Order: sequence, then C-alpha cells, then structure tokens
Amino acid sequence: MNMQVPQNSRTSGATHTADATTVEESLAIQEEQAKYDDNFATETAMANTLLTPRFYTTDFDELDAINVDGIRAEWDELIAQMEADPNKGHFKKNEDWDHVDWENMEPQLKKEFIDFLISSCTAEFSGCVLYKEMKRRGNNKDITQLFQLMARDEARHAGFINDALREAGLRVNLGFLTQSKKYTYFRPKFIYYATYLSEKIGYARYITIFRHLEANPELRFHPIFKWFEEWCNDEFSHGEAFALLMKTDPKLTSGRNVYWIKFFLTAVYATMYVRDHQRPAFHKALGVDPDWYAHEVFTKTSELTKQIFPITLDIDHPRWQPTLERLQRANVQIATGKKQGGLGGKLKELVGSAKAASCFVSLYFIPVKTHKVPAVTRLVPSY
Ligand SMILES: [Fe+2]
Ligand SMILES: [Fe+2]
Repeated sequence: MNMQVPQNSRTSGATHTADATTVEESLAIQEEQAKYDDNFATETAMANTLLTPRFYTTDFDELDAINVDGIRAEWDELIAQMEADPNKGHFKKNEDWDHVDWENMEPQLKKEFIDFLISSCTAEFSGCVLYKEMKRRGNNKDITQLFQLMARDEARHAGFINDALREAGLRVNLGFLTQSKKYTYFRPKFIYYATYLSEKIGYARYITIFRHLEANPELRFHPIFKWFEEWCNDEFSHGEAFALLMKTDPKLTSGRNVYWIKFFLTAVYATMYVRDHQRPAFHKALGVDPDWYAHEVFTKTSELTKQIFPITLDIDHPRWQPTLERLQRANVQIATGKKQGGLGGKLKELVGSAKAASCFVSLYFIPVKTHKVPAVTRLVPSY
C-alpha cells in the first residue's frame, strides 16, 4: 500500500480516518479506499452552482502575516484544547452504528438523504482543502498549527461521511475533487466571514438535529446522526478560531466592513433556507419542519455570532420570512426552467433569477440589530 505521507508529518500508523492524527494521513487512507470511484457521487460533488458547496483559495501570504500576540491567552487556550484531540478515534462506525436498510428506504428519502450526505461531504472537504493549503504555504507557526489541526478534523469528518456513503455503494472521490473542482478566489477577509459563519451555522445545524433526535429517537432513520454532538463541537472550535483571527484586526468587524458582514449573513442564511427546502422528504422523515428548523438555526447562529459581529439580522422582521418563501419559489422556478430547456425554459429561468435577485436585495435591506461586542470572545458550546 502506497501511503504517500510526507516525511516531516507525524503519523500514527492509523488505518481508519478517525484515528489519523494528521490531514496527510487521513487523506492517504481515503485515497487508498477510493476503489469505487463512483461517478454519480463525485459528479454531484463537482457541481458548482450558487447553492452547492464550493472550494476556495485565497491570499495565503496575507493570512500568514497575522500576529496573534494581542489575543495570546485566548489563542493558546483554544490551540491546547484542539491539540488535546478529544475526538480522536470517534468518527468511526462502532456498535452504535445500526444497520441501514438502503434497499427498502423510501426512494425520495433515499435520493434526498444521499444528496445531503454528498453535499455535506463536499462541504467538509472544502474546509479540509483550504485549511491544508494554508498549513502547507504558511511559515507563521501559530497559523500553520491552527490550520493543520482544523484540516485534520475536516478530513475525518469527510472520511466518516464517505464511510456512510460506501454502504449505499457510493463514494466521493476526494483526490479527483482536489484536482478537478473549480476553486473560487476570496480575499482573506471574505474567507474569515464566510468560513466563520459556515462553521458556526454548521454547529447550530448539527446540534439542533442532534437535540431533536435525542428527544425523538424513533425518528433517527440513520445512525450517522448519533455522531452529531461531537461533530458539531469540532465545528464550534473552528468557528472560535476564526472569531479570534478576526479579533486580531478590529477593522475587520467595523466601519464599511459591517456591510460585508451583513451581506455574508444574508447570503449564508438565505442559501441554507433554499437548500433545505429542496429536501422535503428528508425533513419529513426527521420530523422537522424546515421553516421551524431554519428559524431555530438562525436564532442560535445569531446568538453565537454576537461574540465578534456588531450586528445580527432581524430574523423576526415582518419581511424576513415571506421574502425567504418568495426566494424559495423563485428558486423552484429557475430549476423548472432549467429542466424544461428551450426558449420557454430559458425565459422561466431568467424571470426566476430576476425574482431571486430582488428577494435577496429586499432581505439585505431589512434593518439590522446592533449591539456591543464583548471584550472576551471565547464561548463554549451551550445548546
Ligand atoms: Fe467539519
Ligand atoms: Fe469545521
């Protein structure tokens, strides 16, 4: 077996991604497992639309120049916690992994759930690729150490989802994705806003589902949900790291940048809303109303982001919910047009896009709530 692990990286001789202690090791294991190279899953992961997870690249030198001395105490505490690696060995099937009857799963549920797994795997891997690249390019010890630890976690998460997909005869070819998926360039400050939010909303999403299924275990139609608690704690730490990175430069969260923060909050919330509404059977099986779920996740995310952002979106504003619903309908219209094809289809798509754009503008211009950012940034997972 050809484990192409660089000489300078630590290895633990792991054979499962859950036990890998470095990102290189984790990816080598997944490469080795990539025997199926399933086209469907990989093609789905390759898709680049406004709603699918993307791969990012940035100005790594600018990131490398960050000085964390001003926030040293909070930083060292976070790094020590990540170094202690409480979730090592956790993301692995064990006796809690119930048998999944893929054959007899209701076809629409199966389709939506597989889509959910592939898109989650792509999102995890997107973080992994970005963090690993930062670690590789950087010279700043604080930064490379952080990004190495975060890449380690994301590689495990992606590996675990691939374990689940493999049971359905699918897998996402991560090596192929790294080389072939389109990379979107974001300046570092946009990476901070987007990645910070995706980590914190990821935490809020996973913990909300976890708590719901804890109270209603009969609705847990797949064992992977049992792993969501530790999972979301990893995402929580990653979000903490980005909050601290932003704290090193107060300009990032004040002045004109607040408009950018508002833009990213609106885009991330709206995307989640539309994407989740594309999976009605999945949410029905979980016994979750997607409108309730969205509001719950937005509430938690808003509460968390007060740690560093001076504004939160007014998700109880009378225009918020109806505009999200209109945006969702516009999105359905775009999809129907695309499917229909021809001139009529194209027209439908254009009208849908115009409606979606106007909804987004309307959401963006809902007045925000402002508040004072606390002096101490660090939070602990409390939901
Ligand atoms: Fe993750
Ligand atoms: Fe993460």
